Amino acid sequence: MSFTVAIDGPAAAGKGTISRAVAEHFGFAHLDTGLLYRAVGARMLTGKEPVEAAQALTADDLGDPDALRTPDVAQAASRVAVIPEVRAALVDFQRAFARRAGGAVLDGRDIGTVICPDAEAKLFVTASAEVRASRRHKELLERGIASDYDTVLADVRERDARDANRATAPLLPAADAVILDTSDLSIEEAVAKAIREIAAHR
Ligand code: C5P
Repeated sequence: MSFTVAIDGPAAAGKGTISRAVAEHFGFAHLDTGLLYRAVGARMLTGKEPVEAAQALTADDLGDPDALRTPDVAQAASRVAVIPEVRAALVDFQRAFARRAGGAVLDGRDIGTVICPDAEAKLFVTASAEVRASRRHKELLERGIASDYDTVLADVRERDARDANRATAPLLPAADAVILDTSDLSIEEAVAKAIREIAAHR
């Protein structure tokens, strides 16, 4: 039996951490769908045509997620994510993952609205732009990547605007999503809240 959890929200709101913890708690598989757009963005940076890159994408291309989690690749991902043909090419992979037996957690921007509108549980994880920028800034420094808070904040705002204003699958909560604002929550509190919400749908 499949059970799909859709977790959407803006960059650095805590989706990734919450999704991984939720997947572990329920024994579900987890797909960070941002990696799909990042993999296409990374290929665009090496000169590939984004639609062709999206059509040729396989699970193997997500093999080294750390190489895809850089600010340059994030910006490239959000640029290719506005192209409807890129989004269309990635739909089947995501839906097949969502329907796998044993349950799946997918996190992204349009999982509850476009990819899995029938997901059994939907969360929209958000936080203020300042809180998200400061988390991302800390994370980059911890990973040894040079970072400046104001630049990160500008980058978060730029990606928010692009994700929210694009014509195809803009970032917005599904009508039936539970909103989880993590601005004033610790990771443990946010994870516990998410697990309680999802358990209520099982
Ligand atoms: O979540 P992450 O920061 O890795 O996503 C990178 C970019 O990919 C986002 O800024 C967004 O433009 C795009 N994305 C998307 N739809 C998703 C996941 C990510 O448009 N489901």
